[in-house]
Amino acid sequence: MHCRFILLLLVMLTLFVGCTGSSQQPSHIERSTDVERGRYVVEIMGCNDCHTPDYMGSGSSLPEKDWLVGGDLGFHGSWGTAYPTNLRLLLNGISEDDWLILARRMRQSSPMSWVRLPKVTDQDLRAVYRFVKYLGPKGTQAPARLPAGVMPTTDYLEFPEPH
Ligand code: HEC
Repeated sequence: MHCRFILLLLVMLTLFVGCTGSSQQPSHIERSTDVERGRYVVEIMGCNDCHTPDYMGSGSSLPEKDWLVGGDLGFHGSWGTAYPTNLRLLLNGISEDDWLILARRMRQSSPMSWVRLPKVTDQDLRAVYRFVKYLGPKGTQAPARLPAGVMPTTDYLEFPEPH
């Protein structure tokens, strides 16, 4: 009788471990799918064009470990000069929920006003965040933004008036 009880316990334990094991499986798959999706969103929305130095010059073939580290090529217009933020440092330094708030309130009067980031769904914004988390922090901060009328000492591109 005693023996049967122990056997029953063992069976229950096996079932329990089996259940938690199988319930972990989908969430793991979901997470790697998020990374894939995030990589895709970053690529099709052209974030690398500005936030990854030499990305366009390389024919979009830079390895992803070098993506989104920001840069010191200024975007200059009547509103001042802005430098593409290091997203590897920014996103790895804030929570996923804070990222959603930031992405919806993108700074105006900068090339980011051209990017449809605030229109991206929560799900895709979370995927972008998880992709950048997966890449990890890298690089240094981009130079600080310069106000209107101050000429940059770095290289810069003339950028049209944001709409
Ligand atoms: C046309 C060039 C360009 C593209 C494309 C671009 N960015 Fe930016 N981004 C910039 C520049 C320049 C800044 C710095 C703006 C400033 O300092 O005012 C910036 C700033 C940011 C910031 C910081 C905003 C803040 O308020 O601190 C985030 C976050 C960001 N970009 C995310 C993205 C993501 C994600 C993508 C792709 C969906 C993207 N950017 C595409 C040029 C670009």
